[in-house]
Order: sequence, then structure tokens, then C-alpha cells
Amino acid sequence: MTNEMNAAQKLKALYPQHKPRIAVVLGSGWGGLTGHVVDPVRVPYAELPGFPEATVQGHGGELWLGRIGQTEVAVMSGRKHAYEDGVVDGMRLPLETLRDIGCEAIVLTNAAGSLRPAMEPCSLMLINDYINATQRSPLVGEMGSERFVDMKDAYDPALRRVAHEVARESGTRLHEGVYLWSFGPQFETPAEIRMFERMGADAVGMSTVPETILARRMGLPVLAFSLITNMAAGLSGESLSHSHTLSQARAAGDTASGLLARIIANL
Ligand code: HPA
Repeated sequence: MTNEMNAAQKLKALYPQHKPRIAVVLGSGWGGLTGHVVDPVRVPYAELPGFPEATVQGHGGELWLGRIGQTEVAVMSGRKHAYEDGVVDGMRLPLETLRDIGCEAIVLTNAAGSLRPAMEPCSLMLINDYINATQRSPLVGEMGSERFVDMKDAYDPALRRVAHEVARESGTRLHEGVYLWSFGPQFETPAEIRMFERMGADAVGMSTVPETILARRMGLPVLAFSLITNMAAGLSGESLSHSHTLSQARAAGDTASGLLARIIANL
């Protein structure tokens, strides 16, 4: 019988005691957040129709249900990226599922390169706006006026205030800036990074923007964070690689996850 159910129906039928309010999507470096989930149940994506197969090293493939502090959460450990297959709305079904099981807000996390000299590797940045340099949209194909989503305050000002308050109280430096979505999977060229600087980008990465658009389309408020793993191409002597991203992400991951857990406990 459970085979005919969609992911949300399955989750509600199998785990009725879990009523998550906050959805979290973990990107590279943020996996340590699952260590803060109390009394978790872990549901493999393979059991959830429409959830992604995890293809990127460093990303799990499980939905964690449980509590962080008193906040009931649903944490996606592992996400789909548009660069995997060119499909930009691959996170639609998972996000709709999280909404359908009761989530009222969504927290997005990623690893990113910094374009700001003062924002060094291992820094944390609260995203206050984005630049969709790809000009691709996960809403293409939708009909009706609802697809014309207002993207002002895409990252909820009230939630951002909570994040800054908690960071201040815990003595963790939290930068704030504009995230630019670069399609990938290749890293940017130094010339592209110079262009992005002029456009007003503070950090660059390959995710988060399509999820932000989908969440805003569903009317869910969004809070989003970048873990800075490197200076963007051409801004330091280093060459970029995914293993470098992951090793830097590991170095700063505990601080990032600890802060995020405290913020979520205050939502
Ligand atoms: N560019 C794009 N994505 C990234 C980077 C970067 O420099 N670092 C981590 N993810």
C-alpha cells in the first residue's frame, strides 16, 4: 500500500509523531548539523519517490526527522544540483514534500567561493540576496500568474535578524552578502569572477538559487548560508578542486553546523 503513496503521504503514515516546522537542506560542509538532531529517524531517499539520488561525494542521501532544541526539523542530507543533468527544478518534489508534511520555513546551506578579500576561507556568510547569473528558472513550464514571483526579500528579513542575533550572542562572525549562482560543474574563470565582482556578487556557488525560487513560489520564507571554502578563481594562488572544497568545508564545518543548530533552535 505504501508503494502507491507519494513521499509526503508516506512520511505522514510512517512517522506520524514527527511534525517538522523547519526544513533544512545541507550542502557541502554542513553535514555535521545532523549530529545536532535529537531522537532522529533517518529515511533513505530511495524510499521517498521523487527524492534525488545523491551523486556528489560529500552529500548523503537521507531525510532526517527529529528535533534541534525544541524546534522540530526535517533535514535533507544530500541535494540535487542542476549541473548534474541540466534539470533546474530537480528539488521541486522534495521541497513540496517538506511543505506538505508541515514545514513553514526552509533553511538552505552551501559551500561557496568568496569574492571579498575580507571574507576568507572558513568564513560564514548569511545570504541577503542573489544574482541568478545562469538566468535559468525552475518555474519554466508553469502556467498562470502565480509563476511571476516577487523576489524582493527572497531571504526573509525577520529570520535574518534572528541569525545575526544568535551569531552575536555566540561570538561567531557572520558576514552577510549576495550569492551568485554559477551553473557549473566547472569552476569559474578569473575573467568571470572579475565580471561577477562588478555585478555585485560577494560569493559564488552552484546551488541554492533554484531552491530559493521554488520555496518562494510555494510561499515559504527562506534563510540561507554559505560556508566559504575558497577565494574565487584568480583571487588567490590556489587552484580549485572539489577535494579542496571538501577539506576546507571539513575544517570549518563544526563551527558552521554549531551556529546553524543554535539558530534553528531559536526559530
Ligand atoms: N565556485 C563555485 N562553487 C563553489 C566554489 C567556487 O569557487 N567554492 C565552493 N563551491
